[in-house]
Amino acid sequence: MYKSIKNAAVLSAAILSLGACNQASKSNQQKMTDSTSQQAKIPDSSGFEKNIDGKQTHLYTLKNKNGVEAAITNFGGRLVSLLVPDKNGKIVDVVQGLSSIDGYKKAGSSYFGALIGRYGNRIAKGKFTLEGKEYTLFKNNGPNTLHGGKVGYDEVVWDAKQIDSTTLQLTYLSKDMEEGFPGNLTIKVIYHLGDDNGLNISYEATTDKTTVVNLTNHAYYNLNGAGSGTILNHSLQILADNYTPVDSTLIPTGKIEPVKGTPFDYTKPATIGSRIGDANEQLKNGKGYDHNFVFNKHADTTAVVKVVGDKSGIEMDIYTEEPGIQFYSGNFMQGTNTMKYGKDDFRTAFALETQHFPDSPNQPNFPSTVLKPGQVYKTSTEYKFSVVK
Ligand code: BGC
Repeated sequence: MYKSIKNAAVLSAAILSLGACNQASKSNQQKMTDSTSQQAKIPDSSGFEKNIDGKQTHLYTLKNKNGVEAAITNFGGRLVSLLVPDKNGKIVDVVQGLSSIDGYKKAGSSYFGALIGRYGNRIAKGKFTLEGKEYTLFKNNGPNTLHGGKVGYDEVVWDAKQIDSTTLQLTYLSKDMEEGFPGNLTIKVIYHLGDDNGLNISYEATTDKTTVVNLTNHAYYNLNGAGSGTILNHSLQILADNYTPVDSTLIPTGKIEPVKGTPFDYTKPATIGSRIGDANEQLKNGKGYDHNFVFNKHADTTAVVKVVGDKSGIEMDIYTEEPGIQFYSGNFMQGTNTMKYGKDDFRTAFALETQHFPDSPNQPNFPSTVLKPGQVYKTSTEYKFSVVK
């Protein structure tokens, strides 16, 4: 049943993009640096049909009544495309991604669009102690562990079930001691595309041994359209009076410091590029923005982040139950991957990863990421789209 929904959705996406595709001349394709010049379309599903370790992967499409579409693959639970209208009603793909699973595998350490776990962000020196026992993880980021270790949830095949045309359920059993983390963790993630043009990602997990959990999504956005050039002129606002400064390996020092008077003050809207080049030790450590912002007290009905594409007028508002967010300004993008619309050039997309703070298992003054048997890990984040004229 869900397969036929999937096929119907893929077909309608194909019909929608057919006219645009036929018109796309070669020179047109080369001019992808212009604002929203991409011919927005969901990639052909054939690049996502694969059997990996005995499990089948697909590309699933969600569509709401306004015609907004999201494409997700169960390989790493990745958000591949998100098609939303700009201020002129033109459909724009705001997610930077690739056209096939092979492409995603090749670009592995960038985590494009992926679900991240068991522990999103860094754990210092690949070690933590829980209930008196020390656990050792694989160090995949200099001296530290990043985004789950050697094979995180971004590289595994999730079991997928399309509930209806706007809802996809992904489940995964992360085994006891997988990547060095204790406990069998049973995880359910639901992607839901609302008629308010909000993409909601909800996460739920239970364990049979005390463990640590920090799940997030690592989509890279360019609100002018993926492949349309720099994100430095996007306007950004983050309701965070504080952030967690880091050392040169991007591990928090443990302090929670005010943003006031620093380039990290986004309490009022400012462009991403306005202070990114300032002489500032923290910006030097991150090679730009690659920091955890600590949200002010908020209800999950408050948009804690607002980003606006300068050319498209597309606004993305983020609502979350998480206490923090990693703002990563694409500093390690090097143009080495062939994406859906050109290369992944320096700072042509940003990630905003809602999360508990980096290295919390080793930082007693940060909110706890410990999950015990009998408890339910439950959190959700919504990315809502509208236009500013
Ligand atoms: C990290 C960056 C890293 C990026 C891609 C972000 O979450 O904070 O340091 O380069 O993911 O791996």
